[in-house]
Amino acid sequence: MANITFIEACGQETTINLPDGWSLMQGATANGVDGIVGECGGSCACATCHCYVDEARLGDLPPPSEGELDMLENVACERRPNSRLACQIKATAALEGLIVRLPESQE
Ligand code: FES
Repeated sequence: MANITFIEACGQETTINLPDGWSLMQGATANGVDGIVGECGGSCACATCHCYVDEARLGDLPPPSEGELDMLENVACERRPNSRLACQIKATAALEGLIVRLPESQE
């Protein structure tokens, strides 16, 4: 379980207590965080769950798969070194307190 804070482009902050195994995308969409769409339902096929992970915590996350890296080439907003797909990041205790910023648009 981990408390994850999503900060939308407008500044709206939402902290969610995410059970282990839930993806950040699932947690965001189930809790009304508008900045994540999650169109493909989490199968790494739409890139509408693009997020910017706190750079200081990147090392706490498993590295992106080849499939995630491919999809990150299709994000609507600027891709940055800390860009990830929220559906590919599963909650674990190691992510406690993680801050995730969301782009202005997903489409
Ligand atoms: S929800 Fe489609 S790629 Fe993440």
